[in-house]
Amino acid sequence: MDLNVEGVGRILERATALEKEDPLKRDHILAKRRIALLFYESSTRTRTSFELAAKSLGADTTLVSNLSSSIEKGETLKDTGLTLRALGAEAIILRHNSSGAAWLLEESTRLPVVNAGDGMHEHPTQALLDLRTILAHLRQGATNVTPETLSGVTITIAGDILHSRVARSNMLLLPRLGAKVVLCGPKELLPEIATGAGPGIEIERDFEAAMRRSQVIMMLRIQAERLAGLQLDLQEYKASYQLTGQRLAALAPTALVLHPGPIIRGMEITAGVADGSQSCILEQVTNGVAIRMAVMERALLSTPQGARV
Ligand code: NCD
Repeated sequence: MDLNVEGVGRILERATALEKEDPLKRDHILAKRRIALLFYESSTRTRTSFELAAKSLGADTTLVSNLSSSIEKGETLKDTGLTLRALGAEAIILRHNSSGAAWLLEESTRLPVVNAGDGMHEHPTQALLDLRTILAHLRQGATNVTPETLSGVTITIAGDILHSRVARSNMLLLPRLGAKVVLCGPKELLPEIATGAGPGIEIERDFEAAMRRSQVIMMLRIQAERLAGLQLDLQEYKASYQLTGQRLAALAPTALVLHPGPIIRGMEITAGVADGSQSCILEQVTNGVAIRMAVMERALLSTPQGARV
């Protein structure tokens, strides 16, 4: 994530302003601007919220997915990007299975490219919407963030850290606002090498100990599509790391429960917790629209250098 704390604050502020704006006025902000959604991996929340956010600002959108385009015929990312530009696209929202793809596409097309998830690397707009959700509950929706805004707040991120771009973007963002991030998971999904991953970040293998000290618990799905032969005993995994109603009531009865989705009920989280009163999962989804409006406004109305998130 290339944003500094000030930039994060501006996006949060615009997200709130745009959400409150009269839809008929909001519609003019990016009226008739062309935004291409280029998705090489499946997505429900991210794709739909980018699309609805773009449309709320009056932009025209088009979706290009790897399963119904010339990507299937072997066209490169660069050529697909240049084709979209030739068709009049003024910005590209990209989800790709390779780390750094958004940067590469921006270099080759010279268009603003918003990273909607690149491989196991980053998912910046997800971290921003997670932050907005946390601030709504713990800081009365504050948008004027500083390096101290989240001091005293401990956030446990539990599950498949190794494959998670959501974890990576949150690890980059939350400590910059003063939060402590505790990573939790078995060695297979959180290798030793990640120890000392950065300032404000620590590893705790004992999920219950991590829960006990957390105000926010962010659960992650096991990314079966990226496991590549890695063996994991799922019964053992659930016994140690599943977020159950019993654990939550005993160890963190007031903590916020977050999950970027898709949730796998009965695996990393029980259905009762996902649907329970501490769950902010659907609020996260809603916050995605406001954050993505602000990010796309910034991408299209500022300089190319200022556009990257
Ligand atoms: C995540 C992703 O695609 O990185 N989902 C999301 O965008 N909300 C997490 C996942 O796939 O498990």
